Amino acid sequence: MAELHVMRDDQRPPGKPVRRHLLSIGDLDRDDVERLLATAQSFGKALEREVKKLPTLRGRTIINLFYESSTRTSSSFELAAKRLSADTMSIKSSGSSVDKGESLKDTALTLSAYDPDVIVIRHPQIGAPQLVTRFTDAHVVNAGDGKHQHPTQALLDLYTMQEELGRLEGLHVAIVGDVLHSRVARSNIQALIMVGASVTLVGPPSLMPRGIEAMGCEVTHDIAAIAHADVVYVLRMQKERMEAGSAFLPSLREYTAMWGVTPERLRPGQKVMHPGPMNRGVEIDARVADSSDSLVERQVRSGLVVRMAVLYDLLTHGPVAIPSAVQEVA
Ligand code: CP
Repeated sequence: MAELHVMRDDQRPPGKPVRRHLLSIGDLDRDDVERLLATAQSFGKALEREVKKLPTLRGRTIINLFYESSTRTSSSFELAAKRLSADTMSIKSSGSSVDKGESLKDTALTLSAYDPDVIVIRHPQIGAPQLVTRFTDAHVVNAGDGKHQHPTQALLDLYTMQEELGRLEGLHVAIVGDVLHSRVARSNIQALIMVGASVTLVGPPSLMPRGIEAMGCEVTHDIAAIAHADVVYVLRMQKERMEAGSAFLPSLREYTAMWGVTPERLRPGQKVMHPGPMNRGVEIDARVADSSDSLVERQVRSGLVVRMAVLYDLLTHGPVAIPSAVQEVA
């Protein structure tokens, strides 16, 4: 799919406030990432209390606009907004006026008439979140655009690794599978390298983007390489993004035999992650998915606090001192 043309935010008409968006991991530097992870940790502590609702974003409006299926991302953004006391609306393209042919521009203009503070958007087309920034005064968060970026997924993955392994600097992460179609892989490679981790991509040549090493990672087609990693990050086989008639793989059975993540291919104690939804028995063996070393459910829990941190950070315009942030939301 062609990338949409976008207007940079600093090209906004005079008098319009400059807004902060989270469209890509490239919008963040290491300080931003560390601040967001620390804020998420504070929210994690706040959520251990019996009453989990915090008054922080009372009076704010957050719209979730999903043009693609989602369970984890849509539910966690909605719950994150609710936990922070924001008003929230969730709109799926199916069942909305998109079914009648309404354009993304007109949908963005329509929803912006409610003066939302944040629009969270998932869309199959690369650049759709950037396009929305042209037609709204809201902050825009990319919840996944085509095979381009999924920045909050990468942040929640970093948070999970940091919580589980106690560090990010120096970690070795093997990302396994369908890198070619994966926005999760692109966002994670960028984020992991930014925080000082090393990344090895593992998978068939047909599912490895040419030149991806330029992002600072290594590439191998040998599944045995996963044994050297601290974390094995398994990607979903994105059957829906593989164009009909194309021959990325001889068969899923062959993929599983060559690159499926099984207990036999892992070292004891190696942590395993997957962004979900999982194709059990294809890219990940059910015994791995259900093992005590699987962090999959932990990733989902991380998604809530990380998305709370992202909404909070965007709407409070920048760094916060974490102890006072906790008091403020307490
Ligand atoms: N990881 C992820 O984006 O999952 P959903 O498609 O369920 O949101």
